[in-house]
Amino acid sequence: MSPLEDTWHDIILKAIRGLALDQQSLAQASGVREEKIASLLQGFRNDATLVAIAPSLGLHPRELVMVARGASHPPLTTLPKNVQRFTTQYHGMAVHSYLLWSERTQQAVAFDTGTEITPLLKKLKEHQLDLVAIFLTHAHCDHVLKLSELQAKTKAQAWIDHRELLEGTQPLLANFSFALDDQIDIKALSTPGHSPGGTTYLITGLSPLIAVVGDAIFARSAGGMPPTAYTHGLKNICQNILMLPPSTLLAPAHGPLTTIEEERLKNPFFA
Ligand SMILES: [Fe+2]
Repeated sequence: MSPLEDTWHDIILKAIRGLALDQQSLAQASGVREEKIASLLQGFRNDATLVAIAPSLGLHPRELVMVARGASHPPLTTLPKNVQRFTTQYHGMAVHSYLLWSERTQQAVAFDTGTEITPLLKKLKEHQLDLVAIFLTHAHCDHVLKLSELQAKTKAQAWIDHRELLEGTQPLLANFSFALDDQIDIKALSTPGHSPGGTTYLITGLSPLIAVVGDAIFARSAGGMPPTAYTHGLKNICQNILMLPPSTLLAPAHGPLTTIEEERLKNPFFA
């Protein structure tokens, strides 16, 4: 099983940053002694302290401790056979991008580019697919590094939110929807927070539904958000992603695949 993207330590640091807290203010808010918080922040795990500070961080105490104990992981999930995940490396970090194609029209669309496109190009060739569109979840480097190269090799058009436009991309219009064939549609959902124009792409017409979420939400965590975007960003995820049907598959840019049902119950940020 691929490891979770974030540890308990990453999770609390993200919440502390998002809520613009520090050691002292967290001690005051939680009633936990500052030395105990300092020790946690240094990476020394203490489950009782985690439980005590979780409510002040807006985190679910039990689910946070389950992550800390390595006892929380989504079950192994497979993608439909016309969806492929590619994992590339960026400064030692694994980044996922995805390819979806229609078996009826042989047209394909990519979600992000990752840092290496050779495996994607090989897949296109192997299945004789024509890449017609590239949908970008956000403009952070690890997700878009190969955009111009992929466009030069395939002539595919690329879309991204208007707040994160890059050379060669066009802005997603409100209620953007793209028909891959007469069954499969891709709808853009605005999920800013981790980045100003963060976008989730919902693939309908496959069973189950698939949401390509970029860095908005991970299995048992969420993408880091600045304090100015934190509360609104979490709300966006609740309203635009977690309200999808429970069986919807979540395909994040980091960490394992998961489902809406799993994250509603077990993600410390949202449980
Ligand atoms: Fe990102």
